Amino acid sequence: MTFDALIARGQRIEPRDDMPEGYRKTLVRQIAQHAHSEIIGMQPEGEWITRAPSLRRKAILFAKVQDEAGHGLYLYSAAETLGVDRAELTELLLQGRQKYSSIFNYPTLSFADVGVIGWFVDGAAICNQVPLCRSSYGPYARAMVRICKEESFHQRQGYELLLRMMSGTEAQRADVQDAVDRWWWPSLMMFGPPDDDSPNTAQSMAWGIKRHSNDELRQRFVDMTVPQAEKLGVTLPDPELRWNEERGHHDFGRPDFDELKRVISGDGPCNEQRMARRRQAHEDGAWVRAAAAAHAAKHRAQQGR
Ligand code: 3HC
Repeated sequence: MTFDALIARGQRIEPRDDMPEGYRKTLVRQIAQHAHSEIIGMQPEGEWITRAPSLRRKAILFAKVQDEAGHGLYLYSAAETLGVDRAELTELLLQGRQKYSSIFNYPTLSFADVGVIGWFVDGAAICNQVPLCRSSYGPYARAMVRICKEESFHQRQGYELLLRMMSGTEAQRADVQDAVDRWWWPSLMMFGPPDDDSPNTAQSMAWGIKRHSNDELRQRFVDMTVPQAEKLGVTLPDPELRWNEERGHHDFGRPDFDELKRVISGDGPCNEQRMARRRQAHEDGAWVRAAAAAHAAKHRAQQGR
């Protein structure tokens, strides 16, 4: 069956199927950006592992940050089925020729940020990624199934942490509200530019790579989060936020998309720090890659291949 026929029937495209070059390139771009985000996304919360307030919180945070590394690896593997190499993708990131999510360029100032990242950032990731489990490219869609299960745990651990802090002292409640104020708008920006300024959405939806537009998913996230904020007892920092009976959705203010553009182009509060750390980790890991390659070569030689 041809590519167009498979897409029209809602069937999966697999690595050996014929596919237009644009489809392949779009997938490599999106999957690589997603993989880089998972790996760089280990940094903001990773900074809190040594400072977690209890052994229980440390163990949870450790597991969560480790999961992000695993997500990056599944995603790089999915990208490799499209004929690219993980080393090549990492090089493109380090040269600034591929992106990672804007959200990871903001600082984590208190332990409440760990909870709010779980609640907002992983919550936004779930909104964005559950539909990607039905993405038209098989290896990407299958990687997303496991990733979403883990993201769901991440979101709950964040919310549970915040519930706990909200039943603590006045200072703890203030830390939670402060973190909510700082992370709300950047989390809405994670969904990307508005639909009328999103160059890739129409084609990606026609190909079934994306199943919903950026604005649809942003709306879904707001609708999901408002009742959770009420239950938690925090205020979302948007005076325009209100239920619209007619639309059956919440109205909300417009995120500062100029800020999103600035952060994506390298001018966010932590871009330099994140990239410097990523570069350093890559250099520090050179001996591990060399040892793994030498081991694989020895293994192949022993097997006479
Ligand atoms: N951060 C950085 N770049 C962004 C962005 C963001 N929040 N939103 C959009 N962009 C970039 C796009 O990549 C594109 O640039 P490019 O053409 O050079 O790649 C440009 O801005 C225009 O945006 P479009 O809306 O046209 O781009 P897309 O159709 O690709 O939509 C997207 C953007 C919604 C982010 C889509 O790529 C997507 O759904 N990606 C998969 C999910 C993903 O990457 N999530 C990263 C979040 S991190 C995460 O999930 C980790 C978890 O542990 C929390």
